[in-house]
Amino acid sequence: MTQRLKRTELALAAQMIQAGELVAFPTETVYGLGADATNAAAVKKVYAAKGRPSDNPLIVHVSSFEQVKKYAVLPNDYAATLVKAFWPGPLTLILPIKHGALDPIVTGGLKTAAFRMPRNQLTRDLIDLAGVPLVGPSANTSGKPSPTLADHVLHDLSGKIAGVLDDGPTDVGVESTVLDLSVVPPVILRPGAVTREMLLQYIPDVLDNHHHVAKDEIPKAPGMKYKHYAPNAQVYIVNSTDPDKFQSAVKWGLAQNQEVGLLATDAIIASQHLLRFKNQFSLGEDIQSASHQLFDGLRYFDLNPEIKLIIAQGFPRQGLGEAYMNRLEKSAGSEYLQIDDQQVSVIREMTR
Ligand code: TXA
Ligand code: MG
Repeated sequence: MTQRLKRTELALAAQMIQAGELVAFPTETVYGLGADATNAAAVKKVYAAKGRPSDNPLIVHVSSFEQVKKYAVLPNDYAATLVKAFWPGPLTLILPIKHGALDPIVTGGLKTAAFRMPRNQLTRDLIDLAGVPLVGPSANTSGKPSPTLADHVLHDLSGKIAGVLDDGPTDVGVESTVLDLSVVPPVILRPGAVTREMLLQYIPDVLDNHHHVAKDEIPKAPGMKYKHYAPNAQVYIVNSTDPDKFQSAVKWGLAQNQEVGLLATDAIIASQHLLRFKNQFSLGEDIQSASHQLFDGLRYFDLNPEIKLIIAQGFPRQGLGEAYMNRLEKSAGSEYLQIDDQQVSVIREMTR
């Protein structure tokens, strides 16, 4: 049985971690699947519970920068500068590690490791109480959308983990920015709420490298090569704010004798023709709310097995839109609908 733990049960959560058990924890991005990062047997259980390939390394969650220094080598002063500016927060730093400081099960055998200090105070208290850093991949079954509610965690992992520390919905909704500081200039391996523009205010140069990884290519962030964020239905992206285009897209889907789900902003859903359409999930009104709601929305349509097709709204790739589109494109396998004069065609486009 997996226990849903309240804020007042933090000590129990810490005991579970110390006993080598798995406890999912809240962060400002998504829920993570926690285990004692210094206990290789506990970390192994994380891969098993998620069904995660073991060559995909984990983020080490800390409650202080001092803790990072126990394991990592700091090649320059970028880490200190960025930690000061963005921690606690949704920025993960890849750093070279001291030889033998972390078990290869954590690092996937790499000479670097990922570190992050989450903004959620409860989780930082958990790290302090347990007295060890926590590994924490997103607490979902591998390949499924990341969990932004304790209910999502229980849906995927109930019976497979000891507990989930429930602190309500997460804030950002998409995972942290992953920045590789083992190279100069640093490279963004996964876009998140801390954008390139924000990083450039503190360090002189940052490269974008969060492209699609071909099957035979060795990815910089090993996790990027796997199927991700995929609901049961096929997702199609519509890059528009025009309600008529969404109406055409829904019609096109229904014409294939498929139940269709619509994942779009209030402005689209409130339009006359779509208002009474039943299978809809609101992304709110802007890119902030859309990022917050994206994974919840994709999971919502999984509850209705009749839905075979999801029409999802795209956003401009600016600011948080970069992270949102990175996740949405993966969930859609980069399938877009192009709509001209009610003519709908499917195109496979890699906009990154
Ligand atoms: O917001 C987040 O980052 C969430 C919360 C729970 O903290 N965690 C998360 O973990 O998204 P995960 O395991 O789902 O994603 C970690 C990403 C993967 O793409 C992984 O391949 C990459 O970071 N990564 C980890 N260690 C790495 C390393 N040493 N070098 C390059 N990439 C690394
Ligand atoms: Mg993940």
